[in-house]
Amino acid sequence: MPKDTLTITDNRTGKAYELPIEDGTIKAMDLRQIKVADDDFGLMAYDPAFLNTAACRSAITFIDGDKGILRYRGYPIEQLAEQASFLEVAYLLCEGELPNKAQLDKWEDQVRYHTYVHTNVIKFLEGFRYDAHPMGMLLGAVGALSTFYPDAKDLEDPTCRYLQRIRLVAKVPTLAAFAFRHSRGLPYEFPRNDLGYIANFVNMTFSIGGKHQPNPVLQRALEILLILHADHEQNCSTSAVRAVGSSQVDPFSAVSAGIAALYGPLHGGANEAVLRMLAEIGDKKNIPSFIEQVKQGHGRLMGFGHRVYKSYDPRAKLIKKVAYDVFQQTGLNPKLEIALELEKIALEDEYFIKRKLYPNVDFYSGIIYQAMGYPTDYFTVLFALGRLPGWIAQWEEMLRDKDTKIARPRQIYTGYDERPFVPMAKR
Ligand code: ACO
Repeated sequence: MPKDTLTITDNRTGKAYELPIEDGTIKAMDLRQIKVADDDFGLMAYDPAFLNTAACRSAITFIDGDKGILRYRGYPIEQLAEQASFLEVAYLLCEGELPNKAQLDKWEDQVRYHTYVHTNVIKFLEGFRYDAHPMGMLLGAVGALSTFYPDAKDLEDPTCRYLQRIRLVAKVPTLAAFAFRHSRGLPYEFPRNDLGYIANFVNMTFSIGGKHQPNPVLQRALEILLILHADHEQNCSTSAVRAVGSSQVDPFSAVSAGIAALYGPLHGGANEAVLRMLAEIGDKKNIPSFIEQVKQGHGRLMGFGHRVYKSYDPRAKLIKKVAYDVFQQTGLNPKLEIALELEKIALEDEYFIKRKLYPNVDFYSGIIYQAMGYPTDYFTVLFALGRLPGWIAQWEEMLRDKDTKIARPRQIYTGYDERPFVPMAKR
């Protein structure tokens, strides 16, 4: 009968160790007993960027990167994108199950009730420069919410945590819309609680003089994009939320850390980078030379490649469909034509095939957002709106996990050994 253990022989000492294997993993702490001497610290695993380290147990999102599978709480992303509303998916992620009608009605009502932000928030948002990046504004504003809701520090009380979840889902779109208006020099548009979640957000961004003609196809397209972004297990921003949250800070501060992580061009900023890249290519005829440059190591093909997906990102497939729906409404965008051609050429190129580089979720999302009328620097904000329920769900799960401790990785020290201080005159 094979045992679920791993035997390690330390060739430095000749000693053998038997480590239990559970869920396909060994506990890194079990390595610590492997020592060359009693005063040795013990063996550690070196894993920059956590390429092969499970940092938590999670029941929220399942990904099989090789097969291109993504499920939230067991439900395939394709079915959720086709049949669910964003708030339904948010409930599923945060509360663990699909809501029944009464639960969904209550959830929607509570979210609607909390969409307003304290009027002082507007005062400090006004202090940002006219050209402030909306992601910088959003991360600052969400972090600042912690000062408006000091009760959020009570992490022990599940009812209080539930209230903070509602506040975040309700207020982040309002802050995001204010950031949008700020960058355009437009007066802030307040939430309209007679509208649904997506319609209200679109209205807060695009309404002029209290008027906005809604386009249901574009609104549903935006909703699908948000659903596709809603969670993605232990990605950079979610890990940031968990790591910062593990210090038991309030959820507004933890989510603000997630927004900061998402801001970076290798994560949420990639769709913005895709648009810049498409503008730089400018014309289909320039694609071969652009690809050649990338292969020579000059820059990357933005929107391609993924740490986890080593086949087509299932979200990218769905987004491509959304792109066609949107462009039927808005007319064809020349950038889409370049993107389609770029994708075709890259998917046939040995360099990309060998490295399993396929389009990721960001390859098309930016072009769609642009067609909807959102400026490039706003794309990551839309990603943040989508990812919000995932961050909140992962934060809650982290708090409830009995294995959670404050995040505190180890290091391999590579600096000087002890040396005496050198006085200024002798340096
Ligand atoms: N274009 C060209 N080459 C690439 C790309 C790319 N987009 N991505 C990876 N490679 C190459 C690397 O140069 C490397 O080649 P090498 O083995 O010859 O050195 C190889 O593929 C592996 O690359 P890594 O950087 O080790 O892959 P990793 O899993 O760490 O990176 C990442 C994943 C960061 C997403 C990367 O593919 C990338 O930078 N892509 C472009 C940015 C992007 O689209 N980010 C969005 C990610 S999805 C999201 O956040 C929602």
